[in-house]
Amino acid sequence: MTAAAKAQADAPGTGAGSRLRWPRSLFARLALILFVGLAAGNAASFWLTMTERNQATMNVMVGYIEREVASSVALLDRLPAAERPAWLPRLARRSYHFMLEPGVSGVAPDATLSARVAASIKDGIGTDYALTANAVPGERERLQVHLRLSDGAPLTIDITPMPGIPLSRWLPLLLALQLAVLAGCCWAAVRLATRPLHQLAQAADTLGPDLKAERLAEDGPSEVARAARAFNAMQDRIAGYMTERLQILAAISHDLQTPITRMRLRVDMMDDAPQHAKLQQDLQEMETLVKEGVAYARTLHGTGEEPRRIDPDALLDSMLADYRDAGHDVSLHGKAGAALTARPQALRRVLGNLVDNALKFGGAAEIQVAPQAGELAISVLDRGPGIPAESLEAVFEPFVRLETSRNRGTGGTGLGLAIARQLARAMDAKLTLHQRPGGGLEARLVLRS
Ligand SMILES: Nc1ncnc2c1ncn2[C@@H]1O[C@H](COP(=O)(O)OP(=O)(O)OP(=O)(O)O)[C@@H](O)[C@H]1O
Ligand SMILES: [Mg+2]
Repeated sequence: MTAAAKAQADAPGTGAGSRLRWPRSLFARLALILFVGLAAGNAASFWLTMTERNQATMNVMVGYIEREVASSVALLDRLPAAERPAWLPRLARRSYHFMLEPGVSGVAPDATLSARVAASIKDGIGTDYALTANAVPGERERLQVHLRLSDGAPLTIDITPMPGIPLSRWLPLLLALQLAVLAGCCWAAVRLATRPLHQLAQAADTLGPDLKAERLAEDGPSEVARAARAFNAMQDRIAGYMTERLQILAAISHDLQTPITRMRLRVDMMDDAPQHAKLQQDLQEMETLVKEGVAYARTLHGTGEEPRRIDPDALLDSMLADYRDAGHDVSLHGKAGAALTARPQALRRVLGNLVDNALKFGGAAEIQVAPQAGELAISVLDRGPGIPAESLEAVFEPFVRLETSRNRGTGGTGLGLAIARQLARAMDAKLTLHQRPGGGLEARLVLRS
């Protein structure tokens, strides 16, 4: 992920003023929308079913009470007074029972359910008997209907209306199971939708300087396959542009070499004019620029070198010997102690560029080798002027040279660090610059061992 993309991803969610924070990842957002939507839909349909069910059972219950009460009252009315008490338990039901007494009196029932029950009893037997209905105060909704049988005996129907059938015990369990299935389906659907995005981002991330990123599989759902095809095609196009660029650079440098050589010859034939030496130096610089330019273009395109097992200690020893032979002040501390997989020429070039800088700007170079868990850190240190903190990244850009180096008149094209970083990336290594405590610069290369 690029720094800009990362910054955007880390930026606070939209609607900073809103108190509820909208989750940042697409995965969480989609999952939330789907789950809340489905759960709300389910809750609504559950509520609807329950309301329907309650209403239906109430209708059934009211109708049932009407018929049952009518026949029970008719039966009691026809029985001799002495036999009635024995029948009362048999005529009692879950929601009502009969009492051969006047019962309690009170105000007319106002609760909807009681009012409906009283009305339906009136419908059933109201034409045959004079009825009074009243609510019975208490915790539960309860009412009594009073009447007198044809022989004048008082009869009270004590009713405790039930609003519906109680829910079965496994219903919450079933609801929980339903929610779990919903959550599982949401997760699967959202993963299906976001995984290709993740893979695409990963492929784009690994699209390094050598343009050897993995190709995306062009299968799966049609939209995903199309995106993968587009990505692969884009990758091919970039590789094409890069090759073209390299070829142009190589051609220019090749063609420039001939006129530069010709100019050299001409300068050599010139009289020993004061300009002679200066022209020679300029031509020398042009030659280096052309050569380095091609080297940079080549590293951009990745190195053709295959990685292999090497002994870093042997490589460093031989570099050290070369520098010492040339009369440079280079020292080596520490040992890697184990072989590692790397591209030896690229590694030599990276370290060479770092040591050259240390020598050029600090006069002497110190190489420190520190094996760490799964890694090998090689640092090149100097006691030169160092680099200000704000320029530590900028100097990796091609052709960037700091004022200090210009003033000192140190020659160079400003490509050394750019080439070193490209090569380090191609080797899957990390190259960073650090200010050295006590002055100077530390260039640290961390290789995977
Ligand atoms: N060890 C160092 N100490 C101080 N400044 C440094 C050091 N190494 C690099 N720099 C600064 O970073 C700049 C870029 O370095 P880089 O190696 O890319 O270019 P160069 O050395 O100027 O030229 P080239 O390496 O292409 O010959 C340098 O010009 C210099 O200003
Ligand atoms: Mg350099």
